[in-house]
Amino acid sequence: MKKILILNGPNLNLLGRREPGIYGARGFEDYFEELKQRFADVAELSYFQSNHEGDLLDKLHEVGFSYDGVVLNAGAYTHTSIALQDAIRGIQTPVVEVHISNVHEREEFRHRSLISCACRGVICGFGLDSYRLAIESFVNA
Ligand code: DQA
Repeated sequence: MKKILILNGPNLNLLGRREPGIYGARGFEDYFEELKQRFADVAELSYFQSNHEGDLLDKLHEVGFSYDGVVLNAGAYTHTSIALQDAIRGIQTPVVEVHISNVHEREEFRHRSLISCACRGVICGFGLDSYRLAIESFVNA
């Protein structure tokens, strides 16, 4: 029985309304219900979103010594945050980095991630399904 956290960073509270041509028309809360049903045998599948870098750090510290996995979409902090990289390195729980869009076919500043080097793996470009694939990686581990 596993404990997995989905952690979403800045602007991801706007999913469904934000640039739907890139991020799709579905809100995350709706998709999260589907994930909970699909992964009903995961003991705890929880979700947290914040627009504030420090809140994301606090959440990683909170779950990072007891959970089995974190699925992290750090949004734009992916490209800027050494603090997130340090937090991922500092905890025991493995983190999988996800992105809804294929960041490598977008602007050059999105090609560099400051967190990938500290993560177990990276999944990007599959729309919301990127989250499911990341959860599968923990469930099958
Ligand atoms: C994103 C990609 C980031 O470059 C961007 O800043 C986001 C969302 C994605 O899921 O595709 O906010 O992480």
